[in-house]
Amino acid sequence: MKYYILFGPPGAGKGTQAGAIAEKYNLRHVSTGQLLREEIAAGTEIGKQAQALISAGNFVPDEMVETMLNNLFDSTSGVEGFLLDGFPRNLSQAADLDKLLSKRGECVGGVISIMIPDQMIAERIAHRASIEGRADDADMTVIQNRIATYHKQTEPLIAYYTEQNKYHQADGTGTIDEVKAAIASIMDTLHV
Ligand code: AP5
Ligand code: MG
Repeated sequence: MKYYILFGPPGAGKGTQAGAIAEKYNLRHVSTGQLLREEIAAGTEIGKQAQALISAGNFVPDEMVETMLNNLFDSTSGVEGFLLDGFPRNLSQAADLDKLLSKRGECVGGVISIMIPDQMIAERIAHRASIEGRADDADMTVIQNRIATYHKQTEPLIAYYTEQNKYHQADGTGTIDEVKAAIASIMDTLHV
């Protein structure tokens, strides 16, 4: 199995791009945010624990997402790999992912980052708020907290994966089709 990471700040377009990219390269798209929203909608124990944290724009505990992911890796077949969206999100999750994959005799195949400036993040999320009604999109204070948390906790992963020669950056500011083409041209070099 191959494990690719679709990286980027909130609202960069990870979810928008992931479906088509996963289909093109026969990967399973895994959004940890989406998995958590499904747990909340189903009223599970995980969902109950996650709800308040997500609504405030804070991360859920590492073990929560890592257990969900490990179960999903175990139960997936019929694809060539995974396109991870929203994981890892901090250095300890990245180290845990390396350990988890090495136990499986695997490693991260590459990281593709969709990069947009903070002003555009706020605009895109505000736009999505009117369409999707996500609990963490409704309030500008929560959006600003998500952006600040990204810079503090998630951005250090750029250096982590650059050091491993696995970091690739796509310009996320173009149209959806332009960004898709930029990601695909990177994937073509990784998924061979
Ligand atoms: P998650 O669901 O992952 O949210 P996020 O990282 O904040 O990212 P978004 O889903 O908001 O953005 P996106 O990049 O997918 O953008 P989209 O394609 O929708 O996580 C939610 C929460 O769950 C976290 O805050 C945390 O609490 C928890 N969580 C998740 N994973 C966790 C983890 N690993 N550890 C701990 N906690 C975790 O695009 C945004 C909008 O822009 C859309 O309206 C779209 O139509 C539009 N758009 C996209 N591309 C373009 C374009 N090129 N031009 C114009 N508009 C565009
Ligand atoms: Mg998303």
